[in-house]
Amino acid sequence: MKFIHITDPHLTKSNQLFNIKVTNQLVTAVDHITKNHSDAELCVITGDLTHWAEPEAYTDLQSILQQLPMPWHILIGNHDNRQLIRKIFPNIPVDENGFLQYIVPTSAGDFIVLDTIDEGFHHGIICEKRLAWLQRHLKEINNKNDVYLFMHHAPMSTEISGLDHILLKNADRFFQLIKTFRSIKHIFFGHLHRSFHGNWHNISFSTVKGTAHQVAADFTKNAPLSGSRELPAYAVVFIRKDGVFIHDISYLEENTKFDYE
Ligand SMILES: [Fe+2]
Ligand SMILES: [Fe+2]
Repeated sequence: MKFIHITDPHLTKSNQLFNIKVTNQLVTAVDHITKNHSDAELCVITGDLTHWAEPEAYTDLQSILQQLPMPWHILIGNHDNRQLIRKIFPNIPVDENGFLQYIVPTSAGDFIVLDTIDEGFHHGIICEKRLAWLQRHLKEINNKNDVYLFMHHAPMSTEISGLDHILLKNADRFFQLIKTFRSIKHIFFGHLHRSFHGNWHNISFSTVKGTAHQVAADFTKNAPLSGSRELPAYAVVFIRKDGVFIHDISYLEENTKFDYE
């Protein structure tokens, strides 16, 4: 099974953010995916769909994603607005409490999409209501299907202070819930605007650079969050019986291929 992971497009009405043409960078990613990976089963966009939650940015996002040749699924990020997403994407599934949480059945197993927004804050949270929804569905799946979790906020420290202040606040509680379900094979998230992957309590995880700006890899203690003009990427993910395999595609570096001969 092959799918595409895009994150943090941060679209703005003006197409400008930190002197980056963010709309163009998403359009180029979608063109690149269409040209090279039209066989992917689906595409997931892990939040921060817009930067200031402008309605025009969401309608731009909608018309850009409609160009993708495969089905696509969106998550909410801390820069987004839940009510606006529900208005502009009326078909987005919500849970019984109105959170943007849903399950996408795929040929590789169940993709569970979580809503980690703590309204008014940049950090994330999965409240008891959202955790109860997750627990109920994990119990229903009962380890019969493989499960892949998708969320905007990372639950583990990155060693980058500026990012570590805005992670999932109740990560311990979240881990206590998921640790008993061995069906969970991988956690995909966004929010970090960097490549970052490894394993957390023996659960593998990954994110990929955003299609907008990046975050600088400053590991100095207490350093403030800084942006970085590194080029954007999206990820091509292969899920096979023997595991999860991820390629980050630096799609703005075109025409860089050469023959080894
Ligand atoms: Fe972001
Ligand atoms: Fe974010």
